[in-house]
Amino acid sequence: MLDLVAANIDPEVFGSDATRFDPHRELSDSARPAGVAFGGGPHMCIGRSMAAGFRAGATDAPSGMLPQLLRGLVAAGVRLDPTNPPVLRQDTLRANFDIFPIVFEPTASSI
Ligand code: HEM
Repeated sequence: MLDLVAANIDPEVFGSDATRFDPHRELSDSARPAGVAFGGGPHMCIGRSMAAGFRAGATDAPSGMLPQLLRGLVAAGVRLDPTNPPVLRQDTLRANFDIFPIVFEPTASSI
C-alpha cells in the first residue's frame, strides 16, 4: 500500500519545506505538480485536469474546478470561524478533519 499523503510531503522530492503549501515551488523533473494525489500508472485519475487544471506542457496557472472553487470562496470572504476551530478526526493517523467550520466576511470585492 502506498501512503499518498506521506509521499506528497516527502522532503527528498519536495525539499525541506515540503509540508508548506507553496503552489509556486520549483519541482525536480521527477516530481509531478500534484505529487501522487491522483495516483499513477494505467489507473491514474482521468479527472485530474478537470479537478486541478494541470495539463501537460501548460505554462499558465491551474484553472481546474478546485482552484476556481477556492478562488471563489476567497473572493466571497471565507475565513476560519474564530470561535469554533477545526477539529482533527481521532479515528485515523491522517490529518483529516472531523469539522472545519468557516464563516464568510464580505470583502469589498464580494459585495
Ligand atoms: C481532487 C480531486 C481528485 C482526486 C484527489 C482524485 C484522485 C484519484 C486517485 C488517487 C485515483 C486512483 C489512481 C490509481 O489507482 O492510480 C483516481 C482514479 C480515478 N478518478 Fe480521480 N480524483 C479526483 C477527481 C476526479 C474527477 C473530477 C473525476 C471525474 C470527472 C475522477 C475520475 C476518476 C476515475 C474514473 C478514476 C479511475 C481510473 C482508472 O481506474 O483507470 N477523479 N482518482
